[in-house]
Amino acid sequence: MISEVTYGDKTFEVFISQEEIQVILNRLAGEINDAYADISEPIVLISILDGSFIFMADLVRKLSVPIEIQFVKLKSYEDMTSRGEVAHLLKLQTSLTGKHVLVVEDIIDTGLTLEVFSEELKKQNPLTIKICTLLSKPEVHNDIIDIDFVGKEIGPEFVIGYGLDIDEAARQLPHIYRLKIG
Ligand code: IMP
Repeated sequence: MISEVTYGDKTFEVFISQEEIQVILNRLAGEINDAYADISEPIVLISILDGSFIFMADLVRKLSVPIEIQFVKLKSYEDMTSRGEVAHLLKLQTSLTGKHVLVVEDIIDTGLTLEVFSEELKKQNPLTIKICTLLSKPEVHNDIIDIDFVGKEIGPEFVIGYGLDIDEAARQLPHIYRLKIG
């Protein structure tokens, strides 16, 4: 295992290994399979790009419930006058009316992106909206949104790898690394 990686002047150390990610994936997939066990129509999984592409790909291969897969690409803004706006760089290609929706996110930091996106999803009248995230930073988002499936709660630290980037680099790392202090 490469225990440290460097990007620019920043050094990162292994935080969540590939093996631990597999354990998390198995548990999350079990929880999702149980939660939707009685539903016969496909669940619409919406992956928020770019960071969640690896998590989504690994997660769906462990699901036994029927699913459809959609991808969106969002960019969130917050200024002094508006609570937040999300620009859709890649839009949903399907109607969610009457469907069960599961949003798949890599990491929830401030929660702003998901807070705004969830409100937009509600306008399409899905039957249910649930949220799954691999990582969550509760000290940052203070539970402003309900998260139904959480892989692991972490501190307010910056992490990379397994889809997560630093200036678009590091997404291909098989482990999750955190910024090394000192
Ligand atoms: P939020 O709207 O603040 O919750 O931001 C969520 C998005 O910010 C995530 O989907 C990531 O793309 C990015 N992000 C937040 N924290 C990190 C991190 O520690 N490493 C890499 N990207 C992050």
